[in-house]
Amino acid sequence: MQSYTQLRKLGLFDARVPRYTSYPTAPQFNPGVGRDIVSDWISAIPAGGSVSLYIHVPFCRRLCWFCACRTQGTQTAEPVAAYVKTLKKELALIKARLPDGVRIEHLHWGGGTPTLLEPQMIADLSGAIFKMASLAEGAQFSVEIDPTEIDGPRLDALAAAGLNRASIGVQDFDPMIQEVIGRPQSYEVTKDAVDGLRARGIRSLNVDLLYGLPHQTNARIADSVNKVISLGPDRIALFGYAHVPWMSKRQQLIPTEALPSPEARLDLYNVARDLFVGAGFEEIGIDHFAKPDDGLAVAHRNGTMHRNFQGYTEDRSGVLIPVGASAIGRFPQGYAQNEPSTSKYQERVRAGELAIARGHVFAGDDLVRARIIELLLCDFRADLGAVAAEQGVRPNRVLAMAEGLDEALPGATTYADGVLTILEDARPLARIVARHFDAYDMSAARHSQAV
Ligand SMILES: C[S@@+](CC[C@H](N)C(=O)[O-])C[C@H]1O[C@@H](n2cnc3c(N)ncnc32)[C@H](O)[C@@H]1O
Ligand code: SF4
Repeated sequence: MQSYTQLRKLGLFDARVPRYTSYPTAPQFNPGVGRDIVSDWISAIPAGGSVSLYIHVPFCRRLCWFCACRTQGTQTAEPVAAYVKTLKKELALIKARLPDGVRIEHLHWGGGTPTLLEPQMIADLSGAIFKMASLAEGAQFSVEIDPTEIDGPRLDALAAAGLNRASIGVQDFDPMIQEVIGRPQSYEVTKDAVDGLRARGIRSLNVDLLYGLPHQTNARIADSVNKVISLGPDRIALFGYAHVPWMSKRQQLIPTEALPSPEARLDLYNVARDLFVGAGFEEIGIDHFAKPDDGLAVAHRNGTMHRNFQGYTEDRSGVLIPVGASAIGRFPQGYAQNEPSTSKYQERVRAGELAIARGHVFAGDDLVRARIIELLLCDFRADLGAVAAEQGVRPNRVLAMAEGLDEALPGATTYADGVLTILEDARPLARIVARHFDAYDMSAARHSQAV
């Protein structure tokens, strides 16, 4: 067993590393990728092929202090209505470039709080999406749901639009923790949202929980986890709370002196993990759990799970089209991000252009390194020989990338028959192992805790 002393020696408790939801990571994106390049990337999608779509809604009625998401507060419907109009225009711009017969494999609405859209806006937006491309057979349509910002008519509108997976924000049920993170939300309100979804036939439910919150103790997280289990979700995202007040000014309201130590964070994760595993969930990657028959668990077992900007996914389509302010997409040629500022995004789309602000064109070893990092974070192992074959490069070139790993992190990995494996006890180090394969200079970027 890697003791905490060993994990500390290997840097787990001090390191700040990316979450590697992309490689290269977003801080490496540059303004060289703009609307013309991305317009070509969209036109190059094969006719009849499949794509995924990420729609970003950057508004919330409440602004929780812990939150690091890109969002802004609004109490009125006008800015949201104007924004939905812009999204529809952007979808029409994409449609004009999209080859015939392309279908949507995965559709995700995130934010912010997409559930603050009024029923008519939900119908309008989904109508515009399906005018652009229809859903593929068996496609997944998911939306992030704040249980305090949803009601019957909005649930009806989402169900009518074809929603079949809901991602429900919980974070923690403890009232004292909720108070210090600025997010009041009772168990009853959450259960009402869950019941409302189920009553409309939406059976696939995901819950977001956080570990590492101020005043969180093993007993408190256990209580929250048990409450979550009682809601009967089939998938859990157990994210480590990222305290990044330099990025998210709201977090200056979080009492830093009440944050658990890195060692206590690892304990919190382990307590929650044991409860989920005991309740029949499979542990998936660095921060997910799923019931054995859930699509993510199946993909994980089949070795077809992927990692993208939303975390782990069974989405296999090679194209993720970004829609909305700050949305990031992925194409076989590279990454593209829309204007982060909502007003600038709206200005550009209203002027009739795609609002791409920056991105990255894959070059050199990018795709090889990206694949190794993805495999390490999905499966804690990477068959370097298979990656070389898949990417069409010489095995020696891939092996050279692993050089120095054992010296840097002794006892964390093994290498046999071309396969690099992160040892079970060293799994908390997965992002640090992944960083070994990152060739970019990270000195300028400030990341979140490694655990
Ligand atoms: C867009 S937000 C949630 C959607 C919805 N607005 C809600 O509040 O329920 C998506 C998820 O990001 C996660 N998140 C937000 N801020 C975070 C932070 N500082 N560290 C880790 N995860 C965070 C939360 O678990 C949250 O549920
Ligand atoms: S957690 Fe959800 S509701 Fe709270 S600020 Fe973040 S996006 Fe908005």
